[in-house]
Amino acid sequence: MSEHRGFIPQVTIEKIRNKANLVEIVGGYVELKKSGQSYKGLCPFHNEKTASFYVYAHKGFFCCFGCQKKGDVYTFLIEMEGKTFVEAAEYLAKQTGISIPRQKPSLKAQKEQSIRTQIHHANQIAARFFSQTLADDNQGVVAQQYLSERSILPDSVTQFQLGYAPDSWDGLCHWLKRHDIPDQIALQAGLIVQRDSRTGYYDRFRHRLVCPVILPAGEIAGFSARTLSTTKETAKYINSPESPAFHKSSLLFGLHVARHGIRRAKQVLVVEGNFDVIALHQHGFEETVAPMGTALSSTHIEQLRRLSSTIVLLYDGDQAGKAATEKAVRTFLSADVSVRVAMLPTGQDPDSFIIQNNKHALKTLLSQSQEGIEYLIHEIWQPKSNSTEQQTMLLADAVKILGTIPNQTKRDISLGKLAAAMNVTQAIVAKAVNTSSKVNRNIRNITDQAITTKKTLSQRDKSELAILALLSNYPELMEIAETINILGLLSNDRYRTIYEGMQQGQRELSEMTDLDPFMVEQVCSEAYTKLPNPEHALHEALDHLKKLNQRKELAKLQKQAEDAGRHGDIELQRSLIKEIINIRKQAI
Ligand code: UTP
Ligand code: MN
Repeated sequence: MSEHRGFIPQVTIEKIRNKANLVEIVGGYVELKKSGQSYKGLCPFHNEKTASFYVYAHKGFFCCFGCQKKGDVYTFLIEMEGKTFVEAAEYLAKQTGISIPRQKPSLKAQKEQSIRTQIHHANQIAARFFSQTLADDNQGVVAQQYLSERSILPDSVTQFQLGYAPDSWDGLCHWLKRHDIPDQIALQAGLIVQRDSRTGYYDRFRHRLVCPVILPAGEIAGFSARTLSTTKETAKYINSPESPAFHKSSLLFGLHVARHGIRRAKQVLVVEGNFDVIALHQHGFEETVAPMGTALSSTHIEQLRRLSSTIVLLYDGDQAGKAATEKAVRTFLSADVSVRVAMLPTGQDPDSFIIQNNKHALKTLLSQSQEGIEYLIHEIWQPKSNSTEQQTMLLADAVKILGTIPNQTKRDISLGKLAAAMNVTQAIVAKAVNTSSKVNRNIRNITDQAITTKKTLSQRDKSELAILALLSNYPELMEIAETINILGLLSNDRYRTIYEGMQQGQRELSEMTDLDPFMVEQVCSEAYTKLPNPEHALHEALDHLKKLNQRKELAKLQKQAEDAGRHGDIELQRSLIKEIINIRKQAI
């Protein structure tokens, strides 16, 4: 870094530092509140719940009393965006309108740029190609028409730097070549794809409306491109592949614009689709972002939490939207971050809602949003039928989540609300929490003991333990288990005892058997507690076990048949072989 500083005169470095707006730049990542002469917010460099990150605007530096990180506007961009010093200076020079008196960087200096920066550069060049193509009245006509049909205004096209990737195999390839982008970089950026024949490349995005994914500091991390084709069988969206510049789980579409809006609105709206973001921005909800088709990750949640203390989910009003909302709320709760949920009428998404109604209608809808916990209680856990089975299952799920809320008052209030919604006494809920946490405690104790004993398990033990683990974590699976002869499948008495205990509603494994702690650890492993589809996992484990049993049976018969042959008992051998063939036929 230091040798690069030589390019830029010290006085320019200082001039830029003085003119750059540190609060504005930091504000792109952190919600800052004025506190005396300074500003404070949640530190973007470490995880914290109370703000210990300060920005001293008048002195031009930031400092975190939690993690001790401190520095000026250059340091901030270097640490936050992974820029080199020169890159940070160039960026700030552009922002402040100060020019850096120096020559074009040498080839060597260019080579030293990080892959990430080179990808950003390639993307910038590509974005220019896409927007020129969109603006071209010949090539861009279909895309222009599409945008106008979806009521997307020219201002949004500019703001989101929308573009059009033409229906051609090499338009972008040529453009990138002409702009000296090395093939290797274009390839890593996912702008071009290697041909199967291994000679040459072709454009990844073809006949698509291209939405650049722009970072708060203005770089283009990658693209999310929607097809314009109505006939061809092709994915609705194609995104840039994962690369040093593009990590889907930490990118939010629209953030480059929304960062200002979030500060003004004092909230962040999270929607599912790119078009929802654009439509909402157009109607004044400039605090809207979307994770690109992926579930909200814990990184997303961290980012959102720093940006605003009010996070509102506004997902599509369909089955998929509801499932995604539930999943997201659960992730928020496990990260101990508050979230609100606004619900759209069935069949609507934010884009269609705002177009069919107006911004006041959406404001009203948002004002009716409920807290994430309330959402789970009323939309997910409140039983839709009176079946004892269903209520038991829902209660077990609910206490698993609510019972772990760290703040006791919050936990108690939530559990009280749960009891009311489920129409059961508080005592029932309290007992369920107790049982659930006792199991967890026991599990934890045993796991701790077991950690030191490093053993390996046979395939069979693994499958049998997986089945037991699933049944113990998801009692609702017992119904399926009861239709199968599980006892017949399990290979030893210890496992059978556990299963029999479970049949009687017993879940505290540690108390019911003298199982080897290592094995209990497997059963109680956290890996089984948050599966998206436990039923599928159970079937997989059962199939695997059946296969192992079949294999064992086959080996046994094979040996018997060989023995029979050796003893000249052709009849027996024949019937054994018949049996083998039969089993093979049924094999799964
Ligand atoms: P949607 O299908 O809801 O897209 O997917 P949309 O943006 O709302 O588009 P319209 O309004 O139906 O035309 C939501 C998001 O999921 C991602 C995209 O980021 C999209 O915006 N997605 C969707 C993908 O990554 N791949 C896909 O194949 C589909
Ligand atoms: Mn959508």
